[in-house]
Amino acid sequence: MTYDAVIIGAGAAGLMCALTAGYAGRRVLVIDHANKAGKKILMSGGGRCNFTNLATTPANFFSGNPAFCISALKRYRPEHFVELVERHGVDHVEKAPGQLFCAGSAKAILDVLLTECHWAGVEIRLKTSVEGIERVGEGLRLTTSLGRIDSGAVVIATGGLSIPTMGASGFGYDIARRFGLAVTPTRPALVPFTLPPEWKARTAELAGVACEAAVQVVSSGKCLGHYQEPILFTHRGLSGPAMLQISSVWQPGDSLSIDLLPGIDAFAALASARRETPRRRISTWLGEHLPKRLAQALVEWHGGDERLAECSNEALAAWSEQLGDWRLKPAGTEGWRTAEVTLGGVDTRAISSKSFAVNDVPPLRFIGEVLDVTGELGGHNFQWAWASGVACGQTL
Ligand code: FDA
Repeated sequence: MTYDAVIIGAGAAGLMCALTAGYAGRRVLVIDHANKAGKKILMSGGGRCNFTNLATTPANFFSGNPAFCISALKRYRPEHFVELVERHGVDHVEKAPGQLFCAGSAKAILDVLLTECHWAGVEIRLKTSVEGIERVGEGLRLTTSLGRIDSGAVVIATGGLSIPTMGASGFGYDIARRFGLAVTPTRPALVPFTLPPEWKARTAELAGVACEAAVQVVSSGKCLGHYQEPILFTHRGLSGPAMLQISSVWQPGDSLSIDLLPGIDAFAALASARRETPRRRISTWLGEHLPKRLAQALVEWHGGDERLAECSNEALAAWSEQLGDWRLKPAGTEGWRTAEVTLGGVDTRAISSKSFAVNDVPPLRFIGEVLDVTGELGGHNFQWAWASGVACGQTL
């Protein structure tokens, strides 16, 4: 079997790369070891796939080589993908500013990609494993469960390590190392936090409660990152967009500082309430600013539900600290089992940002999440998959 390009990984980046190369007249084969293409697309965005973010810029990505993503993101922009899905009649909604989700099922996005692959003449082989890759002449030879395959180019689009039950593997990193590329340390990101036993016991009763909060990572007294979005209490700890986002900058041992009343000076607001409504209880005031269950829990943790008139300035300062700078040291995260993405990956310094070819091994290419390019929450990771897939596919 001989192809112009073999793409390993029938996920977001691999399918986008395949259809682009197929339309350019290349003979393309996509291989995946899973029994279905695009499993992560199907489960993404709570089943609705947050397929892009209209405001994506390189600043939305973490990477040891921050300039690497600029070229591909500039060439294939969110509006290009929106045009593609609209051409296929996929209805979408903007759930939060810039974040586009399917109005119906995420399957619509996978259907677009598979239809386009079909039209572009791409061959897809599932339940196929790759045992080896070696250089032969100008191209590469794959040893697979289908037999030997020679190809002018091999594109590694095998994604990251998150959710192993969905087909995630370290295959891409192994291949990179075998061809002499560095792999920056990987860790789970966009992942909920677990709490130490004393906090878990307190917060478990709040499972399901959500509120807006500003969350920072504090390490050696320094703020390492800051997000203001909703947080969600869970049976295991803390989740919600702000917590998922901050997990990308958090390292074991770091503390979180949570402001439960972002934009409000809690001390000034409490002092003013004391002046104007001195007979009101703290719980009533809290209940006007926070979900009732959280307000009640805070009063219990704090050990008293005084009337505002009974609160000294010191007491208001203590409340202000609890509300505006709640310090918490997570026990850890839920790890690869639930992480949406992998931080770190194949070091991009040895790869062309135009074609995604390995500088020293031109027939070998890497695209998508397997690279050390990781987006923030909100559709940026799919935009990276589309943009890197197209940039690579156009040059195959
Ligand atoms: P992807 O993981 O999609 O595909 C890799 C493919 O390679 C898989 O099909 C896998 O089976 C295959 N593969 C792996 N190892 C192999 C091997 N050894 N041999 C053969 N095949 C192999 N992002 C976003 O922008 N918006 C969102 O709404 C969400 N939501 C979301 C929810 C959840 C639960 C998760 C886990 C992730 C998200 N993401 C997301 C992240 C997004 O899914 C992710 O960044 C992209 O799918 C990455 O695309 P890739 O094509 O690089 O890898």
